[in-house]
Amino acid sequence: MSDDFAQRYGPWALVAGASDGVGAAFADALASRGLNVVLLARRQAVLDEVATGIRNQHGVETRTLAVDLASPGAAAAVAAGTADLEVGFLVYCAGADPDFRDFLSNTIEAAETMVQRNCVVPMQLCHHFAGAMVERGRGGIVIFGSGAGFIGGPNMVAYGASKAFDMVFAEALWSEVHGKGVDVIGLILGKTDTPSLRRLEHQRGTLASEDESPADAVPVSDVINEAFANLTSGPTVLVGEQMRGVGQLLASMNRNDATRLMAEMISTAMGAD
Ligand SMILES: NC(=O)c1ccc[n+]([C@@H]2O[C@H](COP(=O)([O-])OP(=O)(O)OC[C@H]3O[C@@H](n4cnc5c(N)ncnc54)[C@H](OP(=O)(O)O)[C@@H]3O)[C@@H](O)[C@H]2O)c1
Repeated sequence: MSDDFAQRYGPWALVAGASDGVGAAFADALASRGLNVVLLARRQAVLDEVATGIRNQHGVETRTLAVDLASPGAAAAVAAGTADLEVGFLVYCAGADPDFRDFLSNTIEAAETMVQRNCVVPMQLCHHFAGAMVERGRGGIVIFGSGAGFIGGPNMVAYGASKAFDMVFAEALWSEVHGKGVDVIGLILGKTDTPSLRRLEHQRGTLASEDESPADAVPVSDVINEAFANLTSGPTVLVGEQMRGVGQLLASMNRNDATRLMAEMISTAMGAD
């Protein structure tokens, strides 16, 4: 089983956003299926710990790349850092909003950073790696979206727009390459129990401690299980019952009504903080 997986998607995977949460768990799950993994994030020391754990647990090779995906030249740095590897699987996970605040009170640089990290760089990396996958006639790409990308809402102006980009980008890329042996999925997450979400909720005062699990958050293990169960059933995979319910509700609504509903729900939630 893991031999088949490694032949189809190996020998190397690249996981962008691999130092914690879903990205680290994704890297571990790929290694458990026999792939070597390139682990990318900003914090070198944390990447080193994740890499050691994966090597000890699964006996695969690892490489770490400490790159800020919001910086100019990030995609070129990733291409250079993997030039000698055959990358058959790309996971672009990094992408959460560290702020959840209104567009005009935040800096324009925060929005530009979001678009660079969530739209420009994943597009560049997909262009770089998917071409070689198509030539080989095999490979896999996972791009992380969010329910925030379904409909616009306050406090997530640039974030929601970047996640709409990710979802449509994954769908469109799937339409071009899935017939050529490359699986693409856009994973749409709702509230998920990651260190980033805990940090944000703690900062906002909605979580007493980062050691607690936020209410109603989907465990990371569910994301991993649903992703691997649906690798070949792209392009878009909604994770968790709640997200699937929200997706159905919004799809049944007039877009403008849905936008108003989202604004009301967020303002009620903010008022309740
Ligand atoms: N958690 C949720 O509730 C939720 C809900 C909907 C969608 N999602 C989506 O799920 C994905 C994962 O979310 P998450 O909650 O785990 O948080 P995240 O902050 O997107 O992911 C954390 C990982 O990304 C890395 N990262 C963040 N910014 C980076 C940058 N500029 N350059 C390089 N690496 C960077 C972090 O490592 P370093 O800090 O070491 O760089 C860490 O390894 C995101 O795309 C997010 O939009 C999450």
